[in-house]
Amino acid sequence: MVRLGVNIDHTATLRNARGGGEPEPLIAAAMAELGGADGITVHLREDRRHIKDRDVVLLRSSVNLPLNLEMACTKEIIDIARNILPDMCTLVPEKRAELTTEGGLDVAGNFEKIKKSVSRLMDKGIEVSLFIAPEEEQIICASKTGAKFVELHTGAYADAGVQQHKDELNKLFIAAQTAQQNGLIVNAGHGLNYRNILPVAQIKGLYEVNIGHSVISRALYTGLTKAVSDMKALLAIASGAAQGI
Ligand code: PXP
Repeated sequence: MVRLGVNIDHTATLRNARGGGEPEPLIAAAMAELGGADGITVHLREDRRHIKDRDVVLLRSSVNLPLNLEMACTKEIIDIARNILPDMCTLVPEKRAELTTEGGLDVAGNFEKIKKSVSRLMDKGIEVSLFIAPEEEQIICASKTGAKFVELHTGAYADAGVQQHKDELNKLFIAAQTAQQNGLIVNAGHGLNYRNILPVAQIKGLYEVNIGHSVISRALYTGLTKAVSDMKALLAIASGAAQGI
């Protein structure tokens, strides 16, 4: 079954709106774990818009699940990751110049910089994933950086209207296959929700999805534990469907 990484950034966004201490991302992580999350994801942005350094430190020392740190490919943030030692770092673009057409990391255009960053992280025993658009050139370049994982950007699929939906899904299927043929383990994320997850979760060999906004939004109504277990239930259905059950 596809694993579920829950991105809890938005709890920090809400906290920061008042500048106080609630809601506490650490509690969100514990509730996500109770709901069956397989991992916790946070994005330490250069402007610290939501998650702060203290959040990452606390999560690292208290969360039992694998911790995935999304981050820009900059020296400052890479040095922080090398100190905190998350289980995985997912390199994401934060500046326009680092973007490909569909909003993923432009590995092809920033190859040497990304390759060096991957090896600085892997030297410390941290797994690395590259968040890329489902494009062949990016996948091939990603496979040459030394990273073992890619996270396919599902934003275009999530935003597609009825006409383009099938095409965008196909791009993801083909990209996942290409990545696997090039030795990469494939994750997916961005814009995934309770309505659009099923076809993505049936991508052959998909390892993990990272989902934030839709799960945290549902949590306002149902509580986070239930919101996570509802998503896990859909992933279980997708795994049954993929096996023809
Ligand atoms: N994966 C990556 C690399 C992301 O940057 C984000 C957004 O922070 C997500 C997954 C989660 O996206 P969403 O909040 O739309 O579920």
